[in-house]
Amino acid sequence: MKKEANIFVICAPEISPILHEEIKALGFTNTKEHRLGVQLYGTLADCMYLNLQLRTANKVLWEVSKFYAANPDQLYNKAIKIAWEEEIDVDGYFNIDSFVKNDTITDSRFANLKLKDAIVDRFMERNNKRPDTGPDKDLIRIYMHWVETECILYYDTSGGVIAKHGYRKIPGTAPMLESLAAAVIMASKWDKKSTFINPMCGSGTLAIEAALLATNTAPGLFRDNFGFMHLASFDKSTWDDMCDRAQAQIKPCEAKIYASDISEDAIKNAQFNTEEARMNKHIEYSKTDFRQIDIPEEPGIVILNPEYGERLGEEDELIDVYKEIGDLFKQKCQGYTGYVFTGNRELGKNIGLRTKRKIPFYNGSIECRLLEYELYRGTKKEK
Ligand SMILES: C[S@@+](CC[C@H](N)C(=O)[O-])C[C@H]1O[C@@H](n2cnc3c(N)ncnc32)[C@H](O)[C@@H]1O
Repeated sequence: MKKEANIFVICAPEISPILHEEIKALGFTNTKEHRLGVQLYGTLADCMYLNLQLRTANKVLWEVSKFYAANPDQLYNKAIKIAWEEEIDVDGYFNIDSFVKNDTITDSRFANLKLKDAIVDRFMERNNKRPDTGPDKDLIRIYMHWVETECILYYDTSGGVIAKHGYRKIPGTAPMLESLAAAVIMASKWDKKSTFINPMCGSGTLAIEAALLATNTAPGLFRDNFGFMHLASFDKSTWDDMCDRAQAQIKPCEAKIYASDISEDAIKNAQFNTEEARMNKHIEYSKTDFRQIDIPEEPGIVILNPEYGERLGEEDELIDVYKEIGDLFKQKCQGYTGYVFTGNRELGKNIGLRTKRKIPFYNGSIECRLLEYELYRGTKKEK
């Protein structure tokens, strides 16, 4: 548990500056931002804490070894020298996942097999017995990042991706990944206290993430399995203490959070997910067309994630929806900051207002933008 090593926290493209801020806010220093993650240094307990607290990360990797390997035989010869028995029980189970970009490898499964052989042969030489391996991703996971001749082996302390925060039991149609919703809110100007309005809420992801942020609820509290729990140096009492402390740090929600959708099913799903996240006291849902919603006097942010027409023909039908979002902003949301998260820049132009910022994101492989609109009361000059 005390052993220190490099930690690499992976995230989706464009999110690393937000993830970096999150990590620094948790008190970590000597951090380095990369395009797809943030690097730092620490113990397995640090990895546990990151898994518990981070909202915008995909995975927390803990380095086992970094070495030169030009081909599969060199990988085998280096990997067999690593003390795998320090963390993997001889009667245990492990799974290997990898990213491989090396001229001698055409199929990453072959690299995984070579690594598996090295680990298993080490156990056989010492114990004449070996742990099981296979596709089960719920136990120990080893992650290999092998690019050209640099090979880095990690324990994947998350196991399943932590980008899913575990409360969304009914995803509905076209939901945002929880980590993306959290990153979008963190990139906005919302102060976690003022009014948060989310028309077109779908399965409720943005509203739920807003409530989790406002109440300082750690997303890891909703999961009961992480990769680190299966490593030999996992200390359950340290983890239980960490969770108790996170539980005690949950605070009352100062913000008023309103979410609505035209679909009754969407509202039912969102309410179900909200209960799973134990945030039902903090979000007021209504089945309402966004064109008819009431906007409270006390301003904050209004944020919408409309469909963006991924299939042919859908785009034309959405032009009016985007125009009407512009109307809603102009006519009812003065004093607020408006946001539209969309994967279609052309449709976004139909909102017809000047954007203050266009913040880039990716939803899977789709390039998206969070469009920000300053919705002044009166003229800009008066403000
Ligand atoms: C892309 S989905 C939102 C997904 C959501 N961010 C989530 O994470 O689940 C768009 C939502 O807009 C809703 N919608 C479409 N037209 C609407 C309208 N006129 N008024 C309110 N909601 C509408 C749909 O029912 C759908 O749930």
